[in-house]
Amino acid sequence: MIFSKQLTDWYLHNKRNLPWRTTIDPYTIWLSEIILQQTRVDQGMSYYFRFIENFPTVFDLAAASEEQVLKLWQGLGYYSRARNLHFSAKYIVNELNGNFPSSYKALLKLKGVGDYTASAVASICFNEPTAVVDGNVYRVLARYFGIDTAINSSAGIKEFKHLAQQIIDEENPGTHNQAIMEFGALMCKPSNPNCTVCPLNNSCFALSKNSVKDFPVKEKKAKIKTRHFNYLVIHSSDHKTKIVQRVAGIWKNLYEFPLIETINIIDVEELTEHKIFKELFFNLEITVKLFNNDALVHKLTHQHIYTKFWVVTTASSTNFELSWDDIKKYPVPALIDNFLNQYKIN
Ligand code: ADE
Repeated sequence: MIFSKQLTDWYLHNKRNLPWRTTIDPYTIWLSEIILQQTRVDQGMSYYFRFIENFPTVFDLAAASEEQVLKLWQGLGYYSRARNLHFSAKYIVNELNGNFPSSYKALLKLKGVGDYTASAVASICFNEPTAVVDGNVYRVLARYFGIDTAINSSAGIKEFKHLAQQIIDEENPGTHNQAIMEFGALMCKPSNPNCTVCPLNNSCFALSKNSVKDFPVKEKKAKIKTRHFNYLVIHSSDHKTKIVQRVAGIWKNLYEFPLIETINIIDVEELTEHKIFKELFFNLEITVKLFNNDALVHKLTHQHIYTKFWVVTTASSTNFELSWDDIKKYPVPALIDNFLNQYKIN
């Protein structure tokens, strides 16, 4: 309890003034917590404002098209979070008459809501003593209590949740949960933590052993897969191009240029000999120019995607119907959005 009181005292004096901290409306808190699982507070803020402005209530989010939701989410990555957000909003409106679930157990039934989100919303909005465990919490607990069980092992996940639940302030669980996360974000940071001015520095296990940098412990990651993407950026003489919607995988329902994925890096000969390329440009006069000599590397948790953009200029063709002026209306992966931003200049 002393640990929690010290954390909360620190929090009440040092917390950041964040827009979602002035409300306990569950829709707003849910939205902010989902966004914050995907990005840091400073970047998440603009996404939060855009979502609240476009969809002030769960009814507005439910009434939106998936494309609108994905477009607002664009750049955050992990698009299944956005799809689940939208799915759950429709579920709340259509199946629960717009009544937001008001307990940890009921919240867990929402698609995309796991232990963390259910605990955060239940504690902040409904005062239920359910402990959150996110990356910040793992770090604070591992260092302070000296726990060396790997945080990405099933034993670790269980042990940390159990500990977090034991030390929660049952009277003020929402404040306690936010305090420990904020403390991890601002004081007990991954590198260069502020140990000299930390209010817990005379009772922290890791600091007493001069081993703060050794906590938390993580198991080695699985091998990372390498993929090679070749995007065909089409320019017809009537200012048209082509994008296609992905049907599955990480970027499901987002749009991209026609893609040729290969096992290895390929050159222009191999590209133009590829079945997909031949089908697209059958009987057309074309020129092909590589936009980026060095592949752009997009790093995801379990895969690194090496991408080259091939600009293919063709004569006018009815095959390609999207005007270049409209391309920005479509939700695209950040990788393509970054390309479009650079490509404009050229
Ligand atoms: N990180 C994610 N959600 C948070 C919250 N509610 N307070 C502090 N840090 C957070």
